[in-house]
Amino acid sequence: MKYGYFDDAAREYVITEPKTPWPWINYLGNEEFFGLISNTGGGYCFYKDAKFRRLTRYRYNNVPVDVGGRYYYVKDGDVVWNPGFKPTQTPLDKYECRHGLSYSRFSSEKNGVGAELTCFVPRGATAEVHKLTLENRSGAGKSLKLFSFVEWCLWNAQTDMENFQRNLSVGEVEIDGSTLYHKSEYKERRNHYAFFSVNAPIQGFDTDRESFIGLHDGFEAPQAVREGAPRNSEAHGWSPIASHYLEIDLAPGEKRELVFVLGYVENPEEEKWESKGVIDKRRAKGLIERFDSVEKADAALAELKNRWDGLLAGYRVCTGDEKTDRMVNIWNQYQCMVTFNMSRSASFFESGIGRGMGFRDSNQDLVGFVHQVPERARQRIIDIASTQFEDGSAYHQYQPLTKRGNAEIGSNFNDDPLWLILSVTAYLKETGDWSILEESVPYDNDEAKATPLFEHLTRSFDFTAKHLGPHGLPLIGRADWNDCLNLNCFSTDPNESFQTTENKAGGQAESLMIAGQFVLYGREYARLCRKLGKAEEAARAEGEVAKMVESVKKHGWDGKWFLRAYDFFGKKVGSEENEEGKIFIESQGFCTMAEIGKEEGLCEKALDSVGERLACEHGIVLNNPAFTKYVIEYGEISTYPPGYKENAGIFCHNNPWVAIGETRIGRGDKAFDYWKRIAPAYREEISDLHRMEPYVYSQMIAGKDAFKPGEAKNSWLTGTAAWNWVTISQYLLGIQPDYAGLRVDPCIPSDWKEYVVDRRFRGVQYRIVVKNPSGVCRGVKRLVVDAEELPGNLIPLFEAGTKHEVEVVLG
Ligand code: GLC
Ligand code: GLC
Repeated sequence: MKYGYFDDAAREYVITEPKTPWPWINYLGNEEFFGLISNTGGGYCFYKDAKFRRLTRYRYNNVPVDVGGRYYYVKDGDVVWNPGFKPTQTPLDKYECRHGLSYSRFSSEKNGVGAELTCFVPRGATAEVHKLTLENRSGAGKSLKLFSFVEWCLWNAQTDMENFQRNLSVGEVEIDGSTLYHKSEYKERRNHYAFFSVNAPIQGFDTDRESFIGLHDGFEAPQAVREGAPRNSEAHGWSPIASHYLEIDLAPGEKRELVFVLGYVENPEEEKWESKGVIDKRRAKGLIERFDSVEKADAALAELKNRWDGLLAGYRVCTGDEKTDRMVNIWNQYQCMVTFNMSRSASFFESGIGRGMGFRDSNQDLVGFVHQVPERARQRIIDIASTQFEDGSAYHQYQPLTKRGNAEIGSNFNDDPLWLILSVTAYLKETGDWSILEESVPYDNDEAKATPLFEHLTRSFDFTAKHLGPHGLPLIGRADWNDCLNLNCFSTDPNESFQTTENKAGGQAESLMIAGQFVLYGREYARLCRKLGKAEEAARAEGEVAKMVESVKKHGWDGKWFLRAYDFFGKKVGSEENEEGKIFIESQGFCTMAEIGKEEGLCEKALDSVGERLACEHGIVLNNPAFTKYVIEYGEISTYPPGYKENAGIFCHNNPWVAIGETRIGRGDKAFDYWKRIAPAYREEISDLHRMEPYVYSQMIAGKDAFKPGEAKNSWLTGTAAWNWVTISQYLLGIQPDYAGLRVDPCIPSDWKEYVVDRRFRGVQYRIVVKNPSGVCRGVKRLVVDAEELPGNLIPLFEAGTKHEVEVVLG
C-alpha cells in the first residue's frame, strides 16, 4: 500500500494520508540553521548543533509518536483543527503534505476553510519561515481564531531532559509587539536568543505553557485554544513557549496570508542589551524584516528552488526507468546533502544529543556530496583531519559547534584513518584542487602540531601498515566499520557501552574488512603519490599493499569466501568452521572492490557465496547464519535478535559494496539488481511493510531471519546514501571523476539499450550518451568526444564554461 506518490516534475513526495506507517519527515536548512519536520508538522529546529543550540523542544519516545512541533491551531466555531493534522487529529476534508527539497508544504481544508502552510529555511538566514494562507472557500463569512505554537527548549537539549531542578526556574521571555522572544540564560553566559514573530498585529499571545495548555491537558487540546481566549501570559521559569493569537475574519472567497519567522540571533558581548534586562533586538528585527511580506517570503523560496536546480544539474540521468531516474536525479542526491549536513546527529532515530560528527561517517558522506558544493566538502575535510592524532589514528567523533574531538567516545576504531584517503582523493578527482594537500592542518586541533594535509594521508596509511596482527592483517582495535563486532571487548555488564568500554589488554584481533580497505585506499594513496611525483613513496606504499594482498590470500580466504576476522584468540570469524556467522558481507564487499584474487577467481566465488547465503528479496543481510546467542568474544553483534541491525539485518550501507564488487567482475545485471532491492523508490509499493519514507534510504531493513523481514528502521542518516550514490553514478552508470578527466566505465544490465547523463564537471558541461547495441554489461568499445574518436575511456578536461557532446559505445 502507498501513502502518497512521487511528483517528479515538482521534485516532491506528496503524502496524501496523514497516518503514515511512521512519521515521514523532511529537513529544512542546508547551512547553519536546521529543522526536522514531519508530515504532521512535528519536529524541531536548532542552530548548527542539535545538542548545544536546540531552539525548540522535542520528546522522543512519546505517545503517540511524533508530538511536539510547529503547530497552528485554527478555531472555526467549535471545531479546532491543524493544517498538518496533528496534534488535534481533527479529521480533515483534505490533507496533503508535500516534502520538497528543503521545504515542506501542507495543504488542507476543513469546513470550507483552506489552509496552506509552507515551511523552509531561507538561504543565508538563521530562521525558519512559515508562510500560512487561510482561505474561505465556503459561501458564508468566517470568523476564525488562529493560535501559533512552539515550545522552547532550554538550549542544551541534553540537560533540558535531565536537570529539572534548575530548568524549571530559569526560563525567561520578552514580548515585543508581534514578536515573542526566548532569552533563557542570556543574562549570564549565552550571547544568543530565539524569537517567533508574525508580520501582522496580534490580538493576544502566550509564553507560558501551563497557562496556554493547562496542566492536565495536552497539545491536542490546549485550554486557551478550546476557549478561544489567549491568556497573555508571561513565562517566569517553568516551560516557556511562544504562541500568537490572531482573529481572522474572512468573507466568502477571501484569503489572508501571514508570514511567521522562527529565528536565532547572536549578539556580540557589547551589544547584548538595549537597556537593563532588555535584550538588544536589532539583529532580530533585521532578520524579521527580510521576510516580513508574502513577496519576500515567496522570493526566498524561489531562490531556494533555484539553488536546488543548480545543485542537481551537476548530475542528471535519463535511463527511461522512472524509479532509477528519480533516485539519481532527485532523492539520492538530496539525501546525500542531508547526511553531509547532519552526519548521524539529528533524525527521528538519532536524538541529536548522542553522536556528533563521525570521523568515518563524515568521510564517507563526503563522497556522495563533493560534486554538489565542493567548497563545503573542502572545509569538512580540514575539520575532520584536524581531529586526527599524530600517529594517524583519530577521534571517532567530533562536535560540530566546537569542531573538537569527542573525548567520551575516544579513538581506536581502526578503520577510521583510511576513510580520509577516500574522501581526500574523491575531492581531488572532483575538483582538481591540489592546493588542499598543502593546507596546514593540526593534529588533535593543536596548531602547534600541524602539517600539510598530505602528511595526514601518509599517517593514515601508515597507521594501518604499522598495526598488523599475527597473520599480517590489520588489527581491528575497538571495531572496524562494524561498530558491533567488538572482538577485544568481553563485556559482561549490561550497563556499559560496547563502543566505549575498556578493551581487554593485548587484543590481537584482526580485520579482513580493513585489509580490503587498505588494499583499495592504499592503492589510491600510491596513485596519488605518483601523480605528485613522489615515486619512492608510491613504491613503498605499493609494496605494503602487495604484502597485504598476499596476507589476505594466505590467511583470509576460507575456500568459498573471504573470512571476516580473527578473534582475540586467533580463531577464525566468518568461516565455514563457525557454527553461526559463517559468512559476513563486509569483507566480501571490500575484498572484491579491491579485486583481491580476481585473477584466481576469488572475487567471483566470494560474490556467488553472497548471492547464495546472504542475499534475499529485500537486500543482502550482514551475516549468516544469524547469531542466536550472546558470544562474549564477538560483542554487540550477537546481542541483537536475529535479523536486526548488525546481526543479519540488511544493513543497507554495505549492500553497495557488493554491488560495486559485482561491477568489478562485469556482472551488471546482478549489480543493478542489488542496487534496486534496497532503493526506496522501488519499495514504495510495500510501504506498509517497509514503514519508512519511500524517498530516502534507511540504515536497516530487517533481514530474512527477522520476525518481520522487509521492515525498515532508521531512515535518513546513513552512509547508505553516499555509497548508493557512488554505486549508481560511478559504477553502474559509470561516470567516474578522475584526476585528468571523466572516466567512463559503465556496468549495466545487459538489456539496457541507451541512456544519457548530463554531468557538470569542473565547470564544464558534458552530455554523455551511452549506447549498448550488442547487449553487454561492461566494456567501452568506442569513445567519441565532440565528433572525434579517442582511445581508451577517459573524457579529457576542457575549459570551464564550455559544453561537450560525448558518445560511448559499449561492446
Ligand atoms: C552506524 C554507524 C557507522 C557504523 C555502522 C555499522 O551506521 O554510524 O559508523 O559503521 O553503524 O556499525
Ligand atoms: C550501535 C549500533 C550501530 C551504531 C553504534 C553507534 O552499536 O548498532 O549501528 O553504529 O551503536 O554508537
